[in-house]
Amino acid sequence: RTLRIGLIPGDGIGKEVIPAGRRILEALPASLGLKFEFVHLKAGWETFEEQGVALPDETVSILKSDCDGALFGAVSSPTTAVKGYSSPIVALRKRLDLYANVRPVKTVVSAPKPIDMVIVRENTEDLYVKEETTRDTPDGKVAEAIKRISQRASSRIAAMAGEIALRRQKIRAAGSPSIHGRPLVTITHKSNVLSQTDGLFRSTAREALAAPRFGDVAVEEQIVDSMVYKLFRQPEAYDVIVAPNLYGDILSDGAAALVGSLGLVPSANVGEGFAIGEPCHGSAPDIQGQGIANPIATLRSAALMLEFLNEEAAAAKIYAAVDSNLEEGRLLSPDLGGSAKTEEVVQDILRRL
Ligand code: NAI
Ligand code: MG
Repeated sequence: RTLRIGLIPGDGIGKEVIPAGRRILEALPASLGLKFEFVHLKAGWETFEEQGVALPDETVSILKSDCDGALFGAVSSPTTAVKGYSSPIVALRKRLDLYANVRPVKTVVSAPKPIDMVIVRENTEDLYVKEETTRDTPDGKVAEAIKRISQRASSRIAAMAGEIALRRQKIRAAGSPSIHGRPLVTITHKSNVLSQTDGLFRSTAREALAAPRFGDVAVEEQIVDSMVYKLFRQPEAYDVIVAPNLYGDILSDGAAALVGSLGLVPSANVGEGFAIGEPCHGSAPDIQGQGIANPIATLRSAALMLEFLNEEAAAAKIYAAVDSNLEEGRLLSPDLGGSAKTEEVVQDILRRL
């Protein structure tokens, strides 16, 4: 099978880590029967300065018509609003209907508190439909925002969480060790207060996860505030967490803090038959050009993309090579307390692969 992968490095260290993502894909053993073709695509702040748009139509159309998946690095955003500029990754999620944002958070098995969870965030609705209004009242200005929850979006995100829980089982079996036994999905909401919106999310997610194909998946619920508490006290208890957009956004950044460096945490934006792997860090202008960015978030994002293209065996190999580098702890980048350059970390992981 030949996969065509769009490479969108973006800005800053995106340009330093995306090539590492390409190399790990090319280094996968031939016995997997996978070949890759790469297409270089533009997006980001530099692209905006060159072309007046942060996300050229060409990038979107090539991804749509010509690619199976993509790797997105990071883009810089101006600190104050610039006319005509808007975040290309947000636009990409919309234009390709990438309805799920998936963020695995994992430590090595020998860590004092091993963590191995994935947060599955609904990516299209909730408060992020951005339908806000402001009006003048006798109390001064009042601003309101629509929180939209639909059965369709809640059902498909919960089903995706169920599929991910089952697939994680498979990947563990393929040689990526884990702390979990039976797959577990935790539904996060605040339906005790927002009985209609979060209530609908909760009941729809419950229903979707009651489907026979999820028979092996245990399902539980957690109110979002107590979820945050437990996430920090007992992170090892979680396997797959599914949440509406806003809670998912907050939980996934919070969870990333549990593993020590942004340079370790991958994500994927997933739609029907398409996935974009994206490290969860930004363009890191403070370390750009020094060759010291941690490539692991990107390598794991490449593996995560492969998972959603149904190439679990290939994904498992990348995860295992990364874990083995971290487990040994000899060649680590400065964000992890080491002194290895990006290139040395990449070479060590390629050797393990
Ligand atoms: P950042 O993630 O770029 O950096 C935060 C800190 O983490 C910095 O000290 C950086 O050196 C470090 N860091 C991040 N990734 C690392 C890696 N792979 N290896 C080693 N250290 C790493 O977030 P910040 O500084 O808030 O934003 C910088 C720029 O990135 C801004 O223009 C922001 O808008 C953009 N950004 C873009 C994102 C995206 O494209 N999805 C996400 C977050 C920020
Ligand atoms: Mg966020």
